Amino acid sequence: MAQADALVYLNGNYVPLTEARISVLDRGFLFGDGVYEVIPVYGGKPFRLGEHLRRLDHSLAGIRMVSPLSDQEWTDIFSRLIEGPHDQYLYLQVTRGAAPARDHAIPAGIEPTVFVQCSPIAPIPVGGIRAVTLEDIRWHWCHIKAITLLSNVLLRQEAVDRGAAEAILVRDGWVTEGAASNVFIVKDEAIATPPKSKDILPGITRDLVLELAEKHGFAAEERNFRREELDTADEIWMSSSTREILPVVELDGAIVGRGEPGPMWRHMQAVYQSYKQSLRDSAKLA
Ligand code: PDD
Repeated sequence: MAQADALVYLNGNYVPLTEARISVLDRGFLFGDGVYEVIPVYGGKPFRLGEHLRRLDHSLAGIRMVSPLSDQEWTDIFSRLIEGPHDQYLYLQVTRGAAPARDHAIPAGIEPTVFVQCSPIAPIPVGGIRAVTLEDIRWHWCHIKAITLLSNVLLRQEAVDRGAAEAILVRDGWVTEGAASNVFIVKDEAIATPPKSKDILPGITRDLVLELAEKHGFAAEERNFRREELDTADEIWMSSSTREILPVVELDGAIVGRGEPGPMWRHMQAVYQSYKQSLRDSAKLA
């Protein structure tokens, strides 16, 4: 089915994407007042669904909302939108809804707007990516997966303008995360990523990388590191639900490691892909 004709979920209804409409008074539109999730789907099954739904709860709590739907209701919507066994992702967005008039303060008694779409995952670049470091200009509640993404948009575009695929953000000299990803460095076969805090999104892929590292005996730690450590790292990786684990082979115009995906990335990539494959296989058996 062509993307434009694909069914999406909007406020209790399934409608073709091109027919989905919301009010111009929606606070998501006026204020960026809402949160979202991006959930990859492999073998027709949402990946790490429980983790994504719990993060959604935390994001909603962070903006004084509760989930408008139960886990079962979310799951039913996802099942209806997922088509076929190919790799795809669910995008879900909950905004505070449309109030009768524009007012910064949160109005009482309005219904949230709930939107869910399922789309194919874009091909993941092979061979590694270029990244640039940029000052982290975002707000101080980056642990909330808010739809208010203007700074992320501008940072990503700045990276693209400089011929890079991603920006690595630096706050007061400390590396935080990517414009739409978490960041890892590898030095002497030890993996490090910044600990969870309000400065970063608690990435589901990040957590899985740490979990797989532990299970397979890789040395890994959560610790803060400064911008300069990027220059001496053997490897740099970026992680996200739609791009998995991407090796950075060039940073700010300088080669990282040997300028190709490193050996630790290749190990982690193999482990990660076999974990994904086990999910596809279990879906086939079910
Ligand atoms: N972004 N940090 C930021 C700022 C992100 O936007 C994302 C993901 C991540 C990685 O989180 P996860 O592993 O749970 O996808 C970290 C999604 C993919 C997006 O905005 O499209």
